[in-house]
Amino acid sequence: MVELTRERGVEAVVGDVQDLPFRDGIFDCVLAAWMLYHVPDLNQALRQIRRVLRPGGRLVATTNSERTMPELWEQFGSDGRPGSSFSAENAQGALLRHFTIVERRDVHGEVTFPDRRAARDYVASLVTKAHLADRLPFFDGPLRVSRHAVVFVCEP
Ligand SMILES: C[S@@+](CC[C@H](N)C(=O)[O-])C[C@H]1O[C@@H](n2cnc3c(N)ncnc32)[C@H](O)[C@@H]1O
Repeated sequence: MVELTRERGVEAVVGDVQDLPFRDGIFDCVLAAWMLYHVPDLNQALRQIRRVLRPGGRLVATTNSERTMPELWEQFGSDGRPGSSFSAENAQGALLRHFTIVERRDVHGEVTFPDRRAARDYVASLVTKAHLADRLPFFDGPLRVSRHAVVFVCEP
């Protein structure tokens, strides 16, 4: 993504959100899309994001509900149980420790995996769930799953 962005003439750098390589107060907006649940120290990440926002700037953070794609995860029994350090269910409390206003917008949708192979490959692509991929039971035809994501818009 960084390389593609640079190819379009936009400055892009790789950095750890827990130690952002930017001056204080220089961004109008920080977008954290489906990534804060990977970060070991969430509070440090949110402190850093707030530090680089200018006064009146905003953080837009997206993540999933722990109950997203139930039709997929129930195929793995108790091993498919949800759990996330930054989800629709638990993110708001963490955000409110660092931001004064946290607005939440829920997004519901549906995904159709055309066949088992596509669903298996999706599971294999997930850092925290890849080990389950080959345990997906065999089935014929497409698998339709419901999605629930959330967008938080946060002001310091
Ligand atoms: C599920 S991907 C989401 C990618 C992209 N934002 C999107 O919405 O398609 C998770 C991203 O989090 C990034 N990530 C994980 N830990 C990070 C950290 N400590 N600092 C910055 N980025 C991190 C990974 O490099 C990866 O690009």
